[in-house]
Amino acid sequence: MFQSIERRPPDPILGLSAAYKSDTNPKKVDLGVGVYKDEAGNTPVMTAVKKAEQLLWMTEDSKSYIAQAGPELFIKHTAELVLGAGHAALKDKRVATVLAPGGSGSLRVAAEFVAKNFPGTRIHVSDPTWNNHIPLLGSAGLQLELYPYYDYASHSIKFDQMMDKLKGAGKGDLVLLHGCCHNPCGADLNREMWKAVADAALAQGFTPFVDLAYQGLGDGLAEDAYGLRLLADTLPEVIVASSFSKNFGLYRERTGAVMVIAGTSAAAEAANSQLLVTAREIYSVPPAHGAYLVAMILDDAALRTEWDAELTEMRNRINGLRAMLVSRLKERGIDRDFSFIANEKGMFSFLGLTPAQVKTLVEKYSIYLVGSSRINVAGVNNANIDYLVDCIIAVL
Ligand code: LMR
Repeated sequence: MFQSIERRPPDPILGLSAAYKSDTNPKKVDLGVGVYKDEAGNTPVMTAVKKAEQLLWMTEDSKSYIAQAGPELFIKHTAELVLGAGHAALKDKRVATVLAPGGSGSLRVAAEFVAKNFPGTRIHVSDPTWNNHIPLLGSAGLQLELYPYYDYASHSIKFDQMMDKLKGAGKGDLVLLHGCCHNPCGADLNREMWKAVADAALAQGFTPFVDLAYQGLGDGLAEDAYGLRLLADTLPEVIVASSFSKNFGLYRERTGAVMVIAGTSAAAEAANSQLLVTAREIYSVPPAHGAYLVAMILDDAALRTEWDAELTEMRNRINGLRAMLVSRLKERGIDRDFSFIANEKGMFSFLGLTPAQVKTLVEKYSIYLVGSSRINVAGVNNANIDYLVDCIIAVL
C-alpha cells in the first residue's frame, strides 16, 4: 500500500529549525521559524506563565475532558482581549468564541465551518501571505484567490491595487486580513486603510476573516487590534482566528481561539454549535493546558500586569532590533535603503534578497531564513548582528 507514496520536502518554514540544529558552524544564525528569542537566543517560558503553571499544578484535580468550547474564563477573557471589554458585539451576545489548537487550529476550524455551511466559498488572501495559509485554508475546501498586497521594490503596501482587486469580492466571499504584524512582510494597514477596507466590506458585503496571531507584538495589545475592532464596530459579521502562541509564548501548547461575530445572538449561538461539531469531527476536544494558563493570567490582576510587562519588553526588543539592524547596515555605507525594516512591525520583514542570495546566506554562511528572504527579526542579537550584516553585505 505505501510503496507508491511520494516523499515530500520538509516544510519551507519548520524545516529550517532542523537544518539549523544540525549545522555545526559556530557562527550559525537562526532567523527562520517565527518564535520570539531573547538576547541569548532562547525562547523562554514567560514568568507569568511559569507562575500560572505552578498554580495550575497545585490546583488541577482532573485530566478529564474539558468543555468542548474551552473553559468559560478563557472564552470570556479571549473575547475581551481581542475585541476590548465592553464591545457592543459582546454585550449583544453576538460572538461565538471557541478554544482551538493554536492559531492554525483556529484558522482551520473557521475554514471548515465556512466550507461546510457555504460550499464553494472564495477566500481572498494577500500576496504574499503566510506559506501555510494556502494549504491550510485550501484543503479545508475554500477557494483561494490572491489580492496584491506588498510591493517588493518600494517595500510598501500596494493599497490601490489591493482595493481594486477586492472590488471583485462580494456577499458570500471571505477576505483574509492579517490583524497586525503581517506575516511574512511586516507591513501593516494603517488606520485609513482599515477604514477603507471596512467601508468596502460594508458596501460590497464580503466578510473579513482576521488572522490575529501577533497581538501585542507590534504596537501594543489594543493598538494591534485596532483594525479588527473597527471591522467589528462597522460590520455585522467578522471571523477571527486568534493565537496565544506568540504573545504568551505558548507555542507547543497549541492555544488559540476561533471567533465568529454574527449579526444576531441567535446566529452566534447557531455558529457556536457548528464550530463545536466541526471541531468534534477533526480533533474532538481541545487541549486544556494553555487555555487554563491564559485564563488564569488574564483573570488575575498581578499575573496580568506581569505578563503585560513581559510582552512589552518583547515588543520593545523587537522594535529596537529593527532600528539597530537598519543603522548597522547604514553605517556600513551600503548602497541600499533598509529603513523600511524599522517601519515594519512584528517578527518578520523581507530582506529583499534574491533566492540565490538567500541560498548563499544559508549554505555558505549558515544564516537561516525563509527562501523569500523573510527574517525573524527576534533572532538577531548583539552577538550575531555584526556577522549578519557582514554576510548581507557579502551577498549583495
Ligand atoms: C512562522 O511563520 O514562522 C510561524 O507562524 C511558525 C509556523 O508555523 O510557520
